[in-house]
Amino acid sequence: EAQSTLVLVKPDGVARNLTGEVLRRIERKGYVIEDLRMVRPTRELLTRHYAEHEGKPFFEPLVEFMGSGPVVAVRVGGHGVIEGFRSLAGTTDPTTAAPGTIRGDLGRDWDAGVIQNIVHGSDSPESAARELDIWFN
Ligand code: CMP
Repeated sequence: EAQSTLVLVKPDGVARNLTGEVLRRIERKGYVIEDLRMVRPTRELLTRHYAEHEGKPFFEPLVEFMGSGPVVAVRVGGHGVIEGFRSLAGTTDPTTAAPGTIRGDLGRDWDAGVIQNIVHGSDSPESAARELDIWFN
């Protein structure tokens, strides 16, 4: 099923010059970069994006971290891309993410109250629609 997902190269990924590496892995897999922009997200945008995490202990550090530098937002298309990109990204914690994945190969867990893990990918069709609207409208 053709679908689109939101991928973010987070501030740690951009700062470490990993944007090209992330895009290369996406393209090599056969997914299509449909839209792309670099943004310095506002607190308001991040609060909308991370609404489900409001109230959790890592929410403040998460918003602080995500607002600490530019983010590259990408609309990525392809068959099964929502699940497929999450598979490319690996699990949340880079320490235990499988080698071969973006987080497993390139990430490490920085101690700043929040897991810094290079990329974000939407976790469901509903999230993808909601998040693409937030970042591209
Ligand atoms: P992501 O899954 O892209 O979106 C939510 C983010 O919150 C997640 O990446 C991590 O950066 C962070 N996160 C999730 N769970 C935890 C946790 N238990 N401790 C610290 N940070 C977390």
